[in-house]
Amino acid sequence: MSTKTSMHIDPYERNWMIVSIVLLLGFATAIAVAAFAFGIQVPSPEQRVDPRTVAESGPWAEPGLRELSPGKYEAYILARTWLFQPREITVPVGSKVTFYVTSADVQHGFKLQNTNLNVQVIPGQVSKLTITFDEPGDYNYICTEYCGNGHAAMFGTVHVTP
Ligand code: CUA
Repeated sequence: MSTKTSMHIDPYERNWMIVSIVLLLGFATAIAVAAFAFGIQVPSPEQRVDPRTVAESGPWAEPGLRELSPGKYEAYILARTWLFQPREITVPVGSKVTFYVTSADVQHGFKLQNTNLNVQVIPGQVSKLTITFDEPGDYNYICTEYCGNGHAAMFGTVHVTP
């Protein structure tokens, strides 16, 4: 009568089980190091707003540019079907601009052409992006999220003057 109680595992299969577990531990370690040693986190909204009232009160009730100090600006941009408010902003070259973008209705996108600024615009959330304009010129911001019939016409322009 056999007293053997352990399950038979083929050595080939056992080796692959070990490799799988080592890989999982490696991935978990990589995530932990990235999150806690390098501070890499999933992007989270700058703040939350009520998309039903965001156009009526608060900074997006009067969207546009605010000068904080010489060469330093905040731009409150409201995305809605199918336009950006404001459609145009003008700043001198060398300006540092922080964009606060939100939506009053559906999901939109905000991509500032010829820069690395590109973000989803989600109703109820505020997306924050900062850039320094080192080159004069016109930079279009375009909607990059299909939002209906007028999507292709949804854009605005940052004029950077010399
Ligand atoms: Cu807004 Cu596409």
